[in-house]
Amino acid sequence: MVRHRVCDEGDIPVGGVRAYKAGGQTVAVFHLDDGFYSTQNDCTHLFASLHKGKMVKGGQIECPHHRTRFDIRTGKVVCWANHPPGVKLLNFLRAKKALRTYPVTVEAGQVFVEI
Ligand code: FES
Repeated sequence: MVRHRVCDEGDIPVGGVRAYKAGGQTVAVFHLDDGFYSTQNDCTHLFASLHKGKMVKGGQIECPHHRTRFDIRTGKVVCWANHPPGVKLLNFLRAKKALRTYPVTVEAGQVFVEI
């Protein structure tokens, strides 16, 4: 694992998310009320950019395309794609899959992601 500096602590307000390039990929960095977290930015359903999604209370991100919800802290699926209703027909091809998560550290006001 290699540590990558992605931003300053003040760049992401509490309740916010931003996407950054790090280690040859794009990661989402979330600022929750108990600290910073990072996951892959591509939704595991059909690859939408999660940083364009909606933050949901309790530490979840909702994908902007088909409303899959993920637990930001663990990457686990909370609710798989369900919008529009017909998207469920794809579920035999696109089974539930958790997000990869990455350790985040903050030092001297700078945020690092380990990839
Ligand atoms: S691309 Fe994210 S829910 Fe479909």
